[in-house]
Amino acid sequence: MDWWFDPARTYDDNVRNGPFGAFDGQPPTVAGATAPGETFLGHAVHRPFGVAAGPLPTARHCAASFAHGFDVNVFKTVRSRAMPAHPFPNTLAVRVDGDLPAEPGVTLMADADLTTAHSISNSYGVPSPDPDEWQPDMAAAAAAAADGQVLVGSCQGTRDGDDANLVADYARTAQLVVETGVGAVELNLSCPNEGTGALLCFDTALAARVVRAVRERIGDIPLVLKIAYFRDDDALAGLVRAVAPVVDGIAAINTLPAMLVDAAGRQALLGPGRETAGVCGASIRWAGLAMTRRLVRHREDGGHAYAIVGVGGVLTAEDYRVYRDEGADAVMTATGAMRDPSLGSEVRALAR
Ligand SMILES: Cc1cc2nc3c(=O)[nH]c(=O)nc-3n(C[C@H](O)[C@H](O)[C@H](O)COP(=O)(O)O)c2cc1C
Repeated sequence: MDWWFDPARTYDDNVRNGPFGAFDGQPPTVAGATAPGETFLGHAVHRPFGVAAGPLPTARHCAASFAHGFDVNVFKTVRSRAMPAHPFPNTLAVRVDGDLPAEPGVTLMADADLTTAHSISNSYGVPSPDPDEWQPDMAAAAAAAADGQVLVGSCQGTRDGDDANLVADYARTAQLVVETGVGAVELNLSCPNEGTGALLCFDTALAARVVRAVRERIGDIPLVLKIAYFRDDDALAGLVRAVAPVVDGIAAINTLPAMLVDAAGRQALLGPGRETAGVCGASIRWAGLAMTRRLVRHREDGGHAYAIVGVGGVLTAEDYRVYRDEGADAVMTATGAMRDPSLGSEVRALAR
């Protein structure tokens, strides 16, 4: 497998020296659409498809992704201050047959043999450079989008004191993202590495405060909310009611949590708070699709207009097609793109 964001290397190595593999060097000639024929949040795009927040942490990664035919790319989530990554390793192959249940306490075996991995762990802790560093880099990434392509900037607030502080930090960070010239802002409300029980998207009142504060600060630029899988559909309906008048898009899902152990039953990712990690890839596709269907229904029920970005387990062009058929307005992939750099051009080549 050709990992251009290479899980066998540390996060810092990927940032400093990546991308690797097919993304390092001359890009291929991308087949398919010659003129942008679709739209994503008001932007003309060849295909509303690209790389989700995570594997594109620098302008070099984003430029390579655009050049390989991924048309809607998300620059990895940034913060208002520098933050180191969790200790290496961060991505392991997760051994799971079929669908990963969305239940607390699921235990899975994980190891470093990624050669045949369809599901992987994601335990990076949302690292970020300082804004002085990421702002010019994100601006370069936005400029790398060609005709029919768009860069989305993902960010999140950092908790440092009370809720008011967190809300203000989200607004400040979103403003810094807008200053780089991105085509849309994505707010990560679903980070699984800051305590899965305490995801911001599950706190409707606080999530609503965040989106209102961000909207007030950034004006009309398209705003997308990235949320987790909701087990409770009434809670999802409540969040939708609270945020739909303010946001332009809802992206789902991030990852599903699981306890990861090695072959001897010991904690697989070392360090406090890392017993549980986010799992992504094929085994969570069912959950991303279920959320797409539910977001379609809640949009209809409430007469809302938000775009739905389907994420989770998209490993093939056929998976893209299935998400679109379920009602996703755009589709994104992290694991699938990391495994297969030709996925962008394969989706481009699909008949409309
Ligand atoms: C290496 C890696 C890093 C990630 N980092 C982020 C992040 O910084 N912000 C975010 O919102 N999601 C992050 N994610 C989650 C993805 O955006 C996506 O929601 C998740 O991986 C499910 O999609 P997939 O099955 O295609 O991987 C990351 C995923 C991976 C694999």
